[in-house]
Amino acid sequence: MKLWASNFHKALDKQADDFNSSISFDSRMYRQDITGSIAHARMLGKQGIITAADCEAIVSGLEGILADIEAGALEISPDAEDIHSFVEGELTSRIGDAGKRLHTARSRNDQVALDIRLYLRDEAKTLISDIKKLIAVLCDKADEGREYVMPGYTHMQRAQPVTFGHHLMAYAQMLLRDIGRLSDCVKRMNISPLGSGALATTTYDLDRKYAAELLGMDGITANSLDGVSDRDFVIELISCLSLVMVHLSRLSEEIILWCSWEFKFIELDDAYSTGSSIMPQKKNPDMAELVRGKSGRVFGDLTAMLTAVKGLPLAYNKDMQEDKEAVFDAVDTVKMCLSVFTPMIATMRVLPENMRRAASGGFINATDCADYLVEKGLPFRDAYKTVSEIVAHCIENGLTLESMPMSDYKSFCDKFDDGVYDAISLESCVNRRSVAGGPSPGQVAKQIADVRETLEKI
Ligand code: ARG
Repeated sequence: MKLWASNFHKALDKQADDFNSSISFDSRMYRQDITGSIAHARMLGKQGIITAADCEAIVSGLEGILADIEAGALEISPDAEDIHSFVEGELTSRIGDAGKRLHTARSRNDQVALDIRLYLRDEAKTLISDIKKLIAVLCDKADEGREYVMPGYTHMQRAQPVTFGHHLMAYAQMLLRDIGRLSDCVKRMNISPLGSGALATTTYDLDRKYAAELLGMDGITANSLDGVSDRDFVIELISCLSLVMVHLSRLSEEIILWCSWEFKFIELDDAYSTGSSIMPQKKNPDMAELVRGKSGRVFGDLTAMLTAVKGLPLAYNKDMQEDKEAVFDAVDTVKMCLSVFTPMIATMRVLPENMRRAASGGFINATDCADYLVEKGLPFRDAYKTVSEIVAHCIENGLTLESMPMSDYKSFCDKFDDGVYDAISLESCVNRRSVAGGPSPGQVAKQIADVRETLEKI
């Protein structure tokens, strides 16, 4: 029997019942629902709204239900309308009348708004720790690749040399900001709506702050209509997760390119690659491709929630039940992606010779050649023009900046001398880019040390 069925003349149509029910997806919030109810009951007891004996009976009844669910001794019935009805029904069947007093001064509207906050608060913390692990792995790999010279690209064209460590640390920075956004989102989420009731609070003398404190929350919502009817914290979380997926997807794309025979900068471990049923030579980066593909799901969840909430009048509307599947899917997807992505990066084999080969001979050091002339006193714009002519000459004659003889250099500008060969060597190109935030091995070492220090404080 439904919690609300007393005033109804017939049962809900079977299909309507299935359509309306949320137990298949909200049962995962059983712990938060029970913990929230315990806090509510304790508050009712403290305020004298229920007797101390009823309060104790409710609390120990709820603790028993929680223990039984965790031990696998109590199955959450798929026939219940939602997790709130299930827990309350089970409590009343266990302790009788005291169980019927639990819902005093409460509605499922503030109850569900509380449960989802508590659930997502904990999930956000797990996600932060998962992202931390990935950043730590990126730091280790960057350390290994501090001196590996590779081409840096713009427009997917070889542009200037960087180091592999520098390239990876760019992602470490993006992911650090993701952690910052997630922690910030938790601050706004960790506020208790309990006491908002269905929409207009209640006539009982509640101590909302006390219940919030019991739940480790940082405060109470300031307006009851807002407390039960916004899901901005859900949207904010999915939006943070969408950015995580943008970052994972970009790195996935690079990994996919780097694994190709055209690049061969890295090789993924066999444990994180798949083969083809027909082409025996294939080793496919399926994990990275799936992460790239799954980003679409998370963006879809974000769009679904923005759309679901945007036209809702205050206060609660059943549309809000849609928040759970969307946000659970986003959370589950990101957790699953990280659980594969992090060890995939940790175990990948880096092939520095191939990176170096790709960085050599492609005029990636043309800027450095121009900078060399600037050091000799030429204005940069003139140096740039001279080197473009040199590059054109090299292309025409099958030469590189490294192999072009000094006599040719001199014919373009008499300021050239043998020092140019050293200035345009890949080592000089990266070592001399030691500006803060730059790709030189020294700067990369500093970036790694800074990021590791930051991780310790998170
Ligand atoms: N299953 C509902 C949800 O997720 C719980 C709240 C129900 N409240 C109501 N007034 N029907 O939103």
